[in-house]
Amino acid sequence: MSKEQPKVTIVGAGNVGATAAHILLLKDICDVVLVDVAPGLPQGKALDLMHLRSLAKFQHTVCGSNDYAQTAGSDVVVITAGVARKPGMTREDLLGINSKIVRSVITSALEYSPDAIFILVTNPLDIMTNMAARISGLPKQRICGMGGVLDSARFAYSIARATGADINSIDALTVGAHGESMVCLPRFSTVAGVPITELLDEDEVAQVCRDTVTGGAQVVAFLKTGSAFYAPGASIARMVEAIIRDSGETMSFCAKLEGEYGIDDVFMCVPVRLGAAGVQEVVELPLDEQELAQLRDSAAKIAAQVATLDL
Ligand code: NAI
Ligand code: 2OP
Repeated sequence: MSKEQPKVTIVGAGNVGATAAHILLLKDICDVVLVDVAPGLPQGKALDLMHLRSLAKFQHTVCGSNDYAQTAGSDVVVITAGVARKPGMTREDLLGINSKIVRSVITSALEYSPDAIFILVTNPLDIMTNMAARISGLPKQRICGMGGVLDSARFAYSIARATGADINSIDALTVGAHGESMVCLPRFSTVAGVPITELLDEDEVAQVCRDTVTGGAQVVAFLKTGSAFYAPGASIARMVEAIIRDSGETMSFCAKLEGEYGIDDVFMCVPVRLGAAGVQEVVELPLDEQELAQLRDSAAKIAAQVATLDL
């Protein structure tokens, strides 16, 4: 990291952005700047979080702003600005409005933090990450999107429910779009090292995969006014922590493929190593023909949507 204290800007101080800020402060690993267009919102949430400081005993600070001056020199910029879906909406329904928001946000944020690593969160995640990468011209190491960390966490939860196993003994993995064409990988998802394909029958495996893909929509159906934010906030914090601590940890997130898995020039979720310089390496799993076909189908769907944008 470039300075004494790592600095993380979160654009969009709504449910997801503020939750990510909260978790990062509890971890006490970076200073946070919250930016939002809503007057008073980032300032109010930042002040509330600073009031938490003596209770939660963290040293790092958070401030809120409606412009980007205070974000200058950030190490990481997380973009959660945009509209969240309501019941009956898919993530793709948000494309028109959110693409305009993300275009303006990435331009402003880059101006003040030209060396930052950018993490897109705004939906539809895969399209926004592909779009932001093209608009910004950032090298592939410094721009990525959060999707697979959350989807894999939901997969782990579904597996825990189906098997009765301790959540801590489960490693689960999803790849592909953060959307309907998400690909759950049961052969690469284990309970205490045993693939779930050896613990559950075919119907049960299909059910845990369906529960995973519909996990976000299930939350929306309950909340009615917006979408999930606790697990998304924690997923963002996990990625930011890997960057700040230069952990080199492998997790599923949206990164650029350049021939890996036979897919070229598309950002999508696959297992990737993440560290201080950003995206280190795409990990190529030995997928079978069916898994590869599903991943390539998901890539084609993302590419088709990106092609509809005026880039
Ligand atoms: P929210 O409505 O609570 O917060 C969004 C915030 O963005 C609002 O405070 C709004 O004022 C702000 N905003 C709008 N335009 C802006 C601009 N031009 N500059 C700065 N701020 C601006 O929504 P929530 O729940 O926080 O979700 C945010 C986004 O994240 C949505 O698009 C949602 O679909 C997406 N999301 C993505 C996930 C993922 O896994 N990638 C998971 C959960 C949500
Ligand atoms: C989710 O999966 C809406 O993308 C968001 O909860």
